[in-house]
Amino acid sequence: MKKNVSDILIEALPYIRRFYGMTIVVKYGGHAMVEKQLRDDFAQDITLLKFVGVNPVIVHGGGPQINTVLEKMGIQSQFVKGLRVTDRPTMDVVEMVLGGKVNKEIVSLINQQGGKAVGLSGKDGMMILAQKINIIQSKQENQPPEILDPGHVGEVKHVNPDAIHTLMEKGFIPVIAPIGVDESGETYNINADHVASKMAIALSARRLVLLTDVDGVLDSDGSLMASITVKDSKKMIKNGKITGGMIPKIECAIEALQNSVEKVPIINGTKRHSLLLELFTDTGIGTEITL
Ligand SMILES: Nc1ncnc2c1ncn2[C@@H]1O[C@H](COP(=O)(O)OP(=O)(O)OP(=O)(O)O)[C@@H](O)[C@H]1O
Ligand SMILES: [Mg+2]
Repeated sequence: MKKNVSDILIEALPYIRRFYGMTIVVKYGGHAMVEKQLRDDFAQDITLLKFVGVNPVIVHGGGPQINTVLEKMGIQSQFVKGLRVTDRPTMDVVEMVLGGKVNKEIVSLINQQGGKAVGLSGKDGMMILAQKINIIQSKQENQPPEILDPGHVGEVKHVNPDAIHTLMEKGFIPVIAPIGVDESGETYNINADHVASKMAIALSARRLVLLTDVDGVLDSDGSLMASITVKDSKKMIKNGKITGGMIPKIECAIEALQNSVEKVPIINGTKRHSLLLELFTDTGIGTEITL
C-alpha cells in the first residue's frame, strides 16, 4: 500500500530531530555521478538535508571524469598499485576537471534546487595541507622493496576547516574538490575518501556517508554485507576479497570511527535518493563498518 505524505514525513521526524544542527560529510564518488538524473537526485537530497537543519559538507571524486578528459587530450596514464602516476601536465588536467568541471557542476545543480552551494578545492583557505606519497613495491623475496614516485599524488597531512565553518555559519553548503597543496605550494591529487574522512574528523561530523557505485561491501558471492567489523574487513583486504577503490573506503571508515564519527555507511549512489533513505529511514541500506 502506498504511504501518504504525512506518514512519510512523520516517519522521518525522529531522524530529522537526530541530525538537526549536525554536520554530515558526504563523499560523492565520481562513479556515482555518471547519470544526469542521479546527479539531480543527489542535489535534491543535499538541498533537502540543508532545509531540514542538517549541515551537509560534500567531498567529491571524479576518476571517470578525469579519464574521459585525459583520453580526449590523448594523455596516457600509467597506474601503479591502483594510483595514477601524475606528472605535471596530468596534474593540470586533474585540477581543471576536479576543481573546475566536476566541482562547479555539483555546485550549480545544488543551487538550481535552491541550496546555496560554494565550491572549494583544498587550496582555498589553505584547507588541505598535503604531503607527497611514495609507493613501496615489494619485488621478489630477498630483494629490497622498490620505491616508486607517483608524481603529484598526495595524502592529507592536515585539514584546516576554518573556511568550512565560516561557510556553514552563513548557510552555505561547501563542496570540496580533493586537491591539496604542500608548504612549498605544490599541488597534489588526493584520494577523495581520505579527504572526506579527515574532513569529517576535523568537523566533528556525526556521519561520514560514502556514496559509491556498488551496494556496499560485497562478499565473495557478490552479496551485500549489511555490516562488517574492522577485524573482518582487514582480513578481506588481506585475502584479496576487498580490492581497488574499496580499500581506501575501509581505511577511512576505520579512521573516522576511531575519531568519534558515529557511523560510516557505504551506500550505492547509483540508486535514486539512497542518501535520504540511509539517513531518514530504518531501512538499512549499504554496509556499516563497526569497530
Ligand atoms: N569487496 C568489495 N565490495 C564492493 N566493491 C569492491 C570490493 N572490492 C573492490 N571493490 C570495488 O570498489 C569500487 C568502488 O571504488 P571506486 O574508487 O571505484 O569508486 P568511488 O570511490 O565511488 O569513485 P571515485 O574514486 O571516482 O571517487 C567498486 O566499484 C568495486 O569495483
Ligand atoms: Mg575511489
